[in-house]
Amino acid sequence: MLFIKEDISLASFNTFKSGGTARYFAEALSLDDIRTALSFSKKESIPFLILGEGSNILISDSGFPGLVIKITTSGIHFKTKDADTTLVTAAAGVHFDSLVSESVSRGLHGIENLSGIPGTVGAAPVQNIGAYGTEIKDTLFSVEVFDIESAKIFSLSPEECELSYRSSIFKKKKGSGLVVLSVTFLLTKTAPLLTSYRDIRTYLAEHTIENPDVSDIRRIILDIRSKKLPPLDQYGTAGSFFKNIILSRKEADILQKSFPAMPMFSLVSGEKKIPTAWILDNVCGLKGFKKDSVGLYERQPLAIVNLGGAKSLAIKEMSDFVIDSVRKKTGVILEPEVCFIGDFK
Ligand code: EPU
Repeated sequence: MLFIKEDISLASFNTFKSGGTARYFAEALSLDDIRTALSFSKKESIPFLILGEGSNILISDSGFPGLVIKITTSGIHFKTKDADTTLVTAAAGVHFDSLVSESVSRGLHGIENLSGIPGTVGAAPVQNIGAYGTEIKDTLFSVEVFDIESAKIFSLSPEECELSYRSSIFKKKKGSGLVVLSVTFLLTKTAPLLTSYRDIRTYLAEHTIENPDVSDIRRIILDIRSKKLPPLDQYGTAGSFFKNIILSRKEADILQKSFPAMPMFSLVSGEKKIPTAWILDNVCGLKGFKKDSVGLYERQPLAIVNLGGAKSLAIKEMSDFVIDSVRKKTGVILEPEVCFIGDFK
């Protein structure tokens, strides 16, 4: 049975802890609930918003004028394929880190570097979540979706999901009518552990850890994250607010001439990735910058933080200010990673 509530404050349903109310709000515990909620929004001719844990969105202070459908489906299923390989399927509403924790405790490798990422399993393929040298893309087996137009359920292969840096088909127009129901990962007991990311290498050296196992890696990642990223129990935040910058080799070479110390990482595509955090810190001097109740976190300037009671508009204004500062100093236009929901005009 689906309960549709009215005029529900969304501040406690997103990690920025800001924003207005939803005209209608429902928690969908099953596929039937999802179908019922979607038919309600169609019947009323109002927009809908599929919500997980709200860890990558900024909701406007005027709220959302339609139906917010919070996906709370549950269940993780492990299907052993052979001695080495297991298919792990989790419902969209599962907390992503519970999936990581359960997989790691079974000795399965592949998503341990994604430990501690807030949000649900359903949101993971939407923005191809990634951290410490791993992305969902690397272990994704399939995504089960509900197609609103045809009312059919089918599976998408990783290629069909069109995963790229913090993007997928679900962020594009052609995927906007697909609701993620569950996600399956292919994990193994023997895949090499990925320890090449600088923070992990430094940690292993500093703690003289020589042969970490998959549980050690999870523990290390959680420790690194706790020291770098704003804790959700103290701040309103969505982690990185902006994407890192990807430039063609030619564009990157031009920028490097003006900023010889700027770190640049070569991608297989031939392009170069530049850490936005480095620019905010070393070019714009914005690390720890604050205005009223909004700031750039003092240990990771890529994270915009609500220091307490900030309006979403103030967070958006901070984002605009950062984009402007980077453009003036470097010519580069930053792209937000966070999705803006509702009206910000
Ligand atoms: N840096 C600075 N000053 C700082 C912090 C970083 O100069 O205060 C520079 C350093 O050169 C550092 C580089 O930025 O080597 C990269 O920093 P970091 O390793 O912390 O990662 P990031 O590129 O800033 C990305 C993801 C994070 C993910 C980390 C770890 C994006 C937009 N962000 O951040 O993802 O946890 O790598 O892999 O790609 C998120 O998406 O919400 C998120 C937290």
